[in-house]
Amino acid sequence: MHLLPEEEQVLAGEYGETRQKMMEILAAIGTVFGAARLIPIKSAQVSGASYKTIGDAGLEWLSGLDARVSVPTVLNPIGMDRVTWREMGIPPGFAKKQEEVIAAYARLGIRLECTCTPYYIYQTRFGEHLAWSESSAVSYANSVIGARTNREGGPGALAAAIIGKTPEYGLHLVAERKPQVHIRVEGGDSWDDVAWFGALGYLAGKIAGNRIPFFSGIRPRRDHLKALGAAMAASGAVALYHVAGITPEARIFSYEGSDIEQIPVTAGEVAALWNEIPVDAVALGCPHCSPEELSRIATLLTGKRVKIPVYIFAARKVIETCREAITAIERSGAQVFADTCMVVSPALEQYRTIMVNSGKAFSYVPDMCGAAVRIGTTEECILVATDGAT
Ligand code: F3S
Repeated sequence: MHLLPEEEQVLAGEYGETRQKMMEILAAIGTVFGAARLIPIKSAQVSGASYKTIGDAGLEWLSGLDARVSVPTVLNPIGMDRVTWREMGIPPGFAKKQEEVIAAYARLGIRLECTCTPYYIYQTRFGEHLAWSESSAVSYANSVIGARTNREGGPGALAAAIIGKTPEYGLHLVAERKPQVHIRVEGGDSWDDVAWFGALGYLAGKIAGNRIPFFSGIRPRRDHLKALGAAMAASGAVALYHVAGITPEARIFSYEGSDIEQIPVTAGEVAALWNEIPVDAVALGCPHCSPEELSRIATLLTGKRVKIPVYIFAARKVIETCREAITAIERSGAQVFADTCMVVSPALEQYRTIMVNSGKAFSYVPDMCGAAVRIGTTEECILVATDGAT
């Protein structure tokens, strides 16, 4: 990979040891993937923020870094709500370690919005180059916004944040963004809840693997697209997809006239993921809820009391703009948490079966929380949680 003279100087250690290490990471990634050069990025999003996932080894590595990020950078969800961690049942020892992780990131100049939906907080535009690492955020940025980012590992995203550049390869190149498999959905044109798109994504991720799918036969709105992409990134390794007539690059890269493989998925196959197993908790907000999702949950919960624990997750800044909805949700006994999520927090490890409206959570909860999982629409989740009580 070709480096500019000032990039060579960073690599030679003339701007400090941490920047040198970060440039070494970028140079190694660029060389492995055949990048021609480094390109400037607009923002970064760094995963590896929960003490549950990085442990003491990650904390030690972070604590040894001495530099500042050069572009706006946010963190992925951490292992607890920074304000109400006691209400989540987080042990004080875990909370202390988690705060040390946060402090290490803060010293690097990273904004402590801990969310997988940074696009609700900071405007991200079509065509911008980014270095984001959380898989659902990467999928949304690429597919729904039309920005360009590879799925960075935690260290790669952090290196890009500090240097302000990333190697130009993969999804940064227009030629690498073409559809590679056409998923023709039959019977999905009337779906109106995130769960249907999450469940479709769960199946489609297994079909697509790491290919770029092009969907036809669905009419998803923004929250639906978020659910679809998140699930495909979890059950497969999909970082970009297109939907006919909906996503911004679908008109540039139509499947029509191309000879890519075509695979049908029926509404019946998606519905087969539903089951009726008893649950002892409900978790919503994977990825973190949008204002519209919080408002819908509030409407569904109004006048009801939950009979089992209900956890709802969203970015703190989104929660702050939805006070009315949050009040209605909390009046029902459901709890809303910021900074964290059902997968990266240890809080949900106490349950045997968790009901979700997310295809990504459906994929991750068994391994990450050690619980059985049931998927249902947002309305079904609320019905199960309140058992029809008013
Ligand atoms: Fe976000 Fe956690 Fe789900 S990071 S996408 S809420 S697993």
